[in-house]
Amino acid sequence: TVQKYTASVEFDKKLAIYDIQASQAHAEMLQHKKIISSSDFKKIRNGLHKIKKEIEKGNFKWSIALEDVHLNIENRLTQLIGDSGKKLHTARSRNDQIATDLRLYLRDQIDEIRLKIALLRMEFVKKAELHCDIIMPGLTHLQVAQPINFGHHLLAYEAMFARDDERLADARKRVNRMPLGSAALAGTGFPIDRNRVAKNLKFDSLCENSMDAVSDRDFVIEVTSSLALTMVHFSRISEEIVLWMSSNFNFITISDKFCTGSSIMPQKKNPDVPELARGKTARVVGSLVTLLTLMKSQPLAYNKDNQEDKEPLFDAVETVSNTTKIFIELIANIRPNPKEMRDAALKGYPTATDLADYLVNKKIPFRDAHEIVSKIVSFAIEKNLLLNEIPLLTLQKLCPVIDQKIFKFINLKGSVDSRKHIGGTSSKQVLKQAKKLNLEISKTITEIEKFKTQK
Ligand code: ARG
Repeated sequence: TVQKYTASVEFDKKLAIYDIQASQAHAEMLQHKKIISSSDFKKIRNGLHKIKKEIEKGNFKWSIALEDVHLNIENRLTQLIGDSGKKLHTARSRNDQIATDLRLYLRDQIDEIRLKIALLRMEFVKKAELHCDIIMPGLTHLQVAQPINFGHHLLAYEAMFARDDERLADARKRVNRMPLGSAALAGTGFPIDRNRVAKNLKFDSLCENSMDAVSDRDFVIEVTSSLALTMVHFSRISEEIVLWMSSNFNFITISDKFCTGSSIMPQKKNPDVPELARGKTARVVGSLVTLLTLMKSQPLAYNKDNQEDKEPLFDAVETVSNTTKIFIELIANIRPNPKEMRDAALKGYPTATDLADYLVNKKIPFRDAHEIVSKIVSFAIEKNLLLNEIPLLTLQKLCPVIDQKIFKFINLKGSVDSRKHIGGTSSKQVLKQAKKLNLEISKTITEIEKFKTQK
């Protein structure tokens, strides 16, 4: 039926507490500006308070016939306090109301997600410190490339989630602006005080064009785009966890809690959680595409199309929030198998670049060095030897400038620890990074906590 088609209450009731919060601030301002009487205001204030309690206790009766969260609450208010309830909607429209509710909701969600991301980053740092001596193969094209330490690999993910946090923090600035007062689209003739309401609701500033304020949802798109990227990052580490857990790699184990068995193959332990996270990335990317498409070509000002923004946004927020929460534990639970990692690193001739660099230091041009090393590696493959198992005399036959010191460069640890510059994979550098990151993350947490108490 049409009623069911047009109603949004089933999903926008999630915004009820924000709707009430904004209505309280609006009513207070109406009274202050003598647009409504103080007796009306008191009734409204107490009525809204009562409704909030009803909703919290689950006693509130939501009705599809009343279309959305706004009309449900307003209707109940009038039931409770009579004609005074009908005055709440003075100088306001559902158009500026919904835009305001959505921003209040999103501001809270950003802070919650940022806190979880901070805790996740902490886990990466803790693990990196713990495992900065475990050597594994670093891959390009999924082929063994150069040895790295496991801590360095983990900190690469920390860096991705750190940028996700930055993006959310930046988007929050544009979320935290108040549309209320824009009314339907053109503002209102009543002598309202928008700054008073904004201050009361702890908005940083006002949306300064009423038509833009009620119609654009770029702030929703921006946050969802940041959330989509966060999921893309989760999908990347998920993919690695799945690979690392497979018996072909056997680099790590994770707690059974994150896995399930197969209903037919008794030997199996399937990495369900990382697989699901990889899959759920599709939902959030889908939400982003939905929202972009929803906004595209909308004429000014408010259009009912925008009612369709809520479900994809809520879904994206919940998916990222739950995924982050679970990954905090999952990362804390990763147990590496250093021997398997090391063996895999040895197999792929990962120190070939170090050998070439060594020759360059002996004044051989890099391109020539590259070719000499190719020959050495071919020889090693043919004889089934690791690089450091080739006798010095044989090496010297292939390239006379090589001396005994070569073996220091072509062992795994020597290779890893020679990369000790900022951003390099040496154990020392990883520990240094970890120390810096610990401070950075603590600072971020303090900043978010401050936002939370300001609200
Ligand atoms: N349910 C609407 C939404 O989600 C609220 C605003 C409706 N405004 C209107 N004039 N019908 O966007």
